[in-house]
Amino acid sequence: MTIIAIVSQKGGSGKTTLSVNLAAAAEAAGAVALIIDTDPQATASQWGAWRADKAPEVIDSAPPRIQAKVDAAKAQGATFIVIDTPPHADSAASRAVEVADLVLIPCRPSAFDLAAIKTTVSLVRLFDKPAFVVFTAGPHHAPRMYEEAIELVQSFGIEACPNILPDRAVYRHASAAGASVVEFEPEGKAAAEIAAIHAWTIAQVNMSTTAHEGV
Ligand SMILES: Nc1ncnc2c1ncn2[C@@H]1O[C@H](COP(=O)(O)OP(=O)(O)O)[C@@H](O)[C@H]1O
Ligand SMILES: [Mg+2]
Repeated sequence: MTIIAIVSQKGGSGKTTLSVNLAAAAEAAGAVALIIDTDPQATASQWGAWRADKAPEVIDSAPPRIQAKVDAAKAQGATFIVIDTPPHADSAASRAVEVADLVLIPCRPSAFDLAAIKTTVSLVRLFDKPAFVVFTAGPHHAPRMYEEAIELVQSFGIEACPNILPDRAVYRHASAAGASVVEFEPEGKAAAEIAAIHAWTIAQVNMSTTAHEGV
């Protein structure tokens, strides 16, 4: 089973968008995916309610219950869990990072947003978990800007995911319809970008598990 924590102190950085779409991509790739929504604002849960019974399932959790919910989900056959978190360095983010195999930190590629991820990076360090910044909602093609953003992220002591999720209106349209971009526009660019980030995520988790086992 793979557990991904989506964490960032900053509101509106794309946590919920990444959470629901990553879980939907996992489901489309054959996993039994589950989203655990730890944000009291319950945005992912709202998305789940709009979908009615359609997978992936969304459940909510208070921070102290996250581990128990993960254990229960595992017993029920979940193979890919995404934990969405609220925008604060609170206990939900800590507990999510603690149980995760991999932490993704969505961040808009602007100087203000990048500066704000430092607290998130400190939190992730505390638990010594593999973590990557994922650039969200930025321009599609701005190689120089992304190069600078990557350098800045590395100066904080963290790596950036090679896949980006640039600004695409389909995320807003899909969410409003209780859909993932893969369902809403299967042949679209956003669907391909989400599928690519899912594949990268799986590869990354396999790599760190292998390293951990010393194989
Ligand atoms: N890659 C993207 N392209 C376009 N809009 C995006 C993208 N990522 C996020 N958004 C939009 O930005 C807003 C905030 O995203 P959200 O996922 O709710 O952030 P958070 O959960 O971190 O507060 C939403 O309206 C969402 O549709
Ligand atoms: Mg959110």
